[in-house]
Amino acid sequence: MSRITTSVLKNKKENQEAITMLTSYDYSTAALVEEAGIDMILVGDSLGMVVLGYQDTLPVTMDEMIHHTKAVVRATNNTMVVGDMPFLSYHISIEEAVRNAGRFIQEAGAQTVKLEGGIERVDTVKAIIDAQIPVMGHIGLTPQSVNQLGGFKVQGKDLETAKKLVADAKALEKAGVFSIVLECVPTPLAKKVTEEVSIPTIGIGAGPYCDGQVLVINDMLGMFKGHIPKFVKKYANLQPIIVDALKEYKKEVEEGSFPADEHGFTINDDVLDKLY
Ligand code: KIV
Repeated sequence: MSRITTSVLKNKKENQEAITMLTSYDYSTAALVEEAGIDMILVGDSLGMVVLGYQDTLPVTMDEMIHHTKAVVRATNNTMVVGDMPFLSYHISIEEAVRNAGRFIQEAGAQTVKLEGGIERVDTVKAIIDAQIPVMGHIGLTPQSVNQLGGFKVQGKDLETAKKLVADAKALEKAGVFSIVLECVPTPLAKKVTEEVSIPTIGIGAGPYCDGQVLVINDMLGMFKGHIPKFVKKYANLQPIIVDALKEYKKEVEEGSFPADEHGFTINDDVLDKLY
């Protein structure tokens, strides 16, 4: 089987089939996501918070993103891999943005990239697409702008910002993005945007009317001890399961019941005899 393409996603929107996306940052997890048949893996810069322990996504570098994207690509054959362009990798110049987007494709093996922002990023988006790299947009709550937005808040609640959100989505569509993430947007506004554009919208905290959904995998599996946003549904609670297993391991090592005979290797006695 070949990887999910942008046209498969467009067809899904046209046929009103829901699109699924989850984040992953490592080989083992990405292999499970692929086995579950999820359409897209986003190697998100949420990496900074859930894997690297930063306060926000701002310190994440291109080299960190490439390192983790490579692992995800190695684990997958069918899933589309989306590399998330980190803070400052597309802000300084269009040339740098194209080069960094290209690293996700050429070095890491991703098929597409995502970047945050609307009208103000249209020229950058166009240049990356001109380099034959499919781009996913991301509007609403854009975590790389946390200092400008004054926190992680719902976006588009008043007329001015709601109008801006619709205009951003249309501008990104016109620039050629294949899909747009809508993060932390009121449900009726996300519905409106989804109806206004012909490309798939992928919601996170944006209600059920988007063409698809995305969640951070560590949040939805109950593996992250930090703040979990209200829009996350925990499909599993792995933290206590993992901690219990670790405590059992500690107990068995300390009392001497692990490793048992079946966990060890044998050697012929005559070899041993000759050692002494
Ligand atoms: O970095 C990330 O995980 C994201 C999703 C929240 C959409 O951008």
